[in-house]
Amino acid sequence: MPYARLAGVGHYVPSRVVTNHELATYMDTSDAWIQERTGIRERRWYAQGQDTVAGMGTAAARQALERAGLQPADVDFIVFCTITPDYYFPGGGVLLGRDLGLVGVGALDIRNQCSAFVYGLSVADQYVRSGMYKCVLVVGSEIQSSLLDLSDRGRSVSVIFGDGAGAAVVTASDRPGILSTHLHADGRYAEELYVREPSSSGGHRRYVEMQGDEGTWAHMNGNAVFKHAVQQFPAAVREALAANGKTVEELDLLVPHQANLRISQYIAQELGLPAAKVVSNIEHYGNTTAASIPIALSEAWEQGRVHEGDLICLAAFGSGFTWGSALLYW
Ligand code: UT7
Repeated sequence: MPYARLAGVGHYVPSRVVTNHELATYMDTSDAWIQERTGIRERRWYAQGQDTVAGMGTAAARQALERAGLQPADVDFIVFCTITPDYYFPGGGVLLGRDLGLVGVGALDIRNQCSAFVYGLSVADQYVRSGMYKCVLVVGSEIQSSLLDLSDRGRSVSVIFGDGAGAAVVTASDRPGILSTHLHADGRYAEELYVREPSSSGGHRRYVEMQGDEGTWAHMNGNAVFKHAVQQFPAAVREALAANGKTVEELDLLVPHQANLRISQYIAQELGLPAAKVVSNIEHYGNTTAASIPIALSEAWEQGRVHEGDLICLAAFGSGFTWGSALLYW
């Protein structure tokens, strides 16, 4: 049975930088509050008419393929992760396939919020190890700025989220790559962080009736999400290490979903990991949901922080609640 490994990672972020100071012109907030509570200084917002969720994913995917020394034609399956698709349906995977010139290549969309990339990697791992596919693209892409409530009412959510895309190429290999993935969910907390509409069970689903309705904006109970995140993140990392007989000391790099700098710092402290082994780029991008882990991994790779043979853990927690981890050798 072949192993599955990450052969290349890439990312794309829109060029428009939105600082905390700019946000303070729209709502009652401040650079000091945002930095102190989240560690975020700026995020990227898409350019309408230029950036699309699928298009940004395609740019990230092309970079990942190039770094893997592969062509789009080598891809035999697409896993597309987003909660902010360009269309209500079809999903982003088919649009990305079209952008890459792929006809007949299967495409699967995953809607698992901040954990989606870890879920996507798990799917790719199973396909590759079973021998069904040899080269799977896993893409996370989000345009979240278009659904933010920029009034004072939405400030605790709006200051956190940003736009961007990241991608990984998962290929068959004769040496170990992905060692394990662990996936979890607990739907009892579904409404702690959610967007209610468009809802198919909530009455007639016409956009014209929804406009201006707060149901279309993201709602978050930040304190509840925070409390669960600081429990489940370290547990997910420990679960991955234990399943493979590894210790925290053996870990070369932890790439946590970029939810909040304070959450990442807590995980590092809880696990006894030095800051140098924990990737953090939330300062520049905010929380990019499904794109956050592949963007962070791609940047870490660019910065020379990822070496062949390194033991790397990816961990995520978010809306659902869903959470999980992937442990891999680079
Ligand atoms: O990706 C996974 C999903 N998301 C997360 O993991 C997020 C987890 N949660 C968090 O990161 C934090 O809960 C937040 C950053 C969202 C909020 O930080 P907090 O320290 O939990 O603040 P809080 O919600 O307890 O609010 C403290 C105060 C409140 O004012 P009062 O009631 O003390 O007068 C808020 O109204 O801060 C106020 N506040 C703000 N002030 C300025 C809330 N948002 C803002 C804002 N600017 N943007």
